[in-house]
Amino acid sequence: MSRLIKWEKEGAIGIITINSPATLNALNTQVLAQLDECIDEVEKEESIGVLILTGEGKAFVAGADIKEMLPLDAKQGEKLGANGSRIFRRLETLPMPVIAAINGFALGGGNELAMACDIRIASEKAKFGQPEVGLGITPGFAGTQRLPRLIGPAAAKELIYTGKIIGAQEAKELGLVNRVVAPEELMDVAKGLAEDILKNSWNAVALSKKAINDGLQLDIESAMDLEAKIFGECFLSPDQKEGMSAFVEKRSAKFNHSRRKA
Ligand code: HXC
Repeated sequence: MSRLIKWEKEGAIGIITINSPATLNALNTQVLAQLDECIDEVEKEESIGVLILTGEGKAFVAGADIKEMLPLDAKQGEKLGANGSRIFRRLETLPMPVIAAINGFALGGGNELAMACDIRIASEKAKFGQPEVGLGITPGFAGTQRLPRLIGPAAAKELIYTGKIIGAQEAKELGLVNRVVAPEELMDVAKGLAEDILKNSWNAVALSKKAINDGLQLDIESAMDLEAKIFGECFLSPDQKEGMSAFVEKRSAKFNHSRRKA
């Protein structure tokens, strides 16, 4: 089977590349299946502390595969949406931060994939949008859910109802991406950000991710209870003693950098 998803390790950084540039990395059955398998492999790698997700060629991902979707019936459509959403949710709930390095088109399922990542860095050449309504469908890989949560319902509705494609700068102004960088700097910026994260306690970063993601689904009182519980859990890890001892002893902390389990 050809590798439509490649992944490699650079130190403690895992880099996943969607590698189907002839169709602008469109998410067909095979690409989705290989992404699912790739997440299995990454999950097992205890030495990866941050993951970067990018696309080969001029697209990050130009959406779900339109040719594959054309003949589907309602049941098959529902199954496709549920399967993609399940895979994206796996990425979102990995214990390590996931950075989307968005090199080009992030349309439909591509924007939905980027939104399942923790942080989005965009090349100046990147383009974003949810053009599904122009194809007679709704966003189906959780775009109707993550986009309003990320940029607010009014801006999300405008993007989804019009299907308009926006540039990286506008995406930044909407809060859809964290940063916009020159195309040639994209991977270096993403790796630099990964290195900044990796210097800290991986356990505390993973717990922060969990507190933010799970807390966002709760009312504020329950979310604060969740935070208190997670904060308490930090004291089970040697990283808390090491981080605080290092401060008191005026030295740099030396964390053991083993990744906590999901
Ligand atoms: C299948 C796709 C594709 C897609 C591009 N291709 N996007 N194939 N599904 N989503 C293919 C083209 O058919 C073409 O193949 C090749 O990739 C190169 O694309 P071009 O159109 O020639 O490139 P360009 O002129 O540069 O235009 C780029 C583009 C355009 C603006 C991104 O390709 C485009 O509009 N693509 C569709 C974007 C979109 O609507 N995405 C949302 C999909 S729905 P050939 O063989 O002709 O050379 C979706 C739903 C998610 O994502 C939820 C599902 C449950």
